[in-house]
Amino acid sequence: MSATAEMPYFIKPSQNLSGPEKRTAYAEARAAILATIGDEQNETVKMVTINCLLKTYLPYYYWVGFYLVRGENQLVVGPYQGTLGCLYIEFGRGVCGTVAASGVTKIVDDAHALKQGTEHIACDPNSRSEIVVPVRRADGSLMGVFDVDSTLKASFDQVDQEELEQLLIAVFTKA
Ligand code: SME
Repeated sequence: MSATAEMPYFIKPSQNLSGPEKRTAYAEARAAILATIGDEQNETVKMVTINCLLKTYLPYYYWVGFYLVRGENQLVVGPYQGTLGCLYIEFGRGVCGTVAASGVTKIVDDAHALKQGTEHIACDPNSRSEIVVPVRRADGSLMGVFDVDSTLKASFDQVDQEELEQLLIAVFTKA
């Protein structure tokens, strides 16, 4: 797939960061997120705050948002920032559906190299690399998945996985 789509005026292409730069940016974003959320328990308030502040501090976050579990094996789009997100994803389909089914984080270096419609679902052809992390509540139930896209290849690595897994546990499993 080589199609690209014109980016809306409010969206900028990604800029990759080095490992140390990522650690600094995540530390600043995490502090701002936890300070802003405080004792708030409403999941929507938490999700919109996470999307906004991570996109503010991390310049390779092109699309950032949540897909939430609905019923037995469906994901429905939740709060996000970026270009139009697909509304529904079945468990086992695309990167989000695969993570919802396996419960394990997945990093994709080049989404254009995956089988479209099965291994990857292209909501926006500008998305090139991706990370998807499962999101659980304090009782261990799967709330959904957290999805981040970049317009560059290989923007995500172990640093993103560690930082995002820890942040989502800190925000969604705290009593
Ligand atoms: N690419 C995802 C679909 C969601 S968009 O990235 C917003 C996937 O393959 O599951």
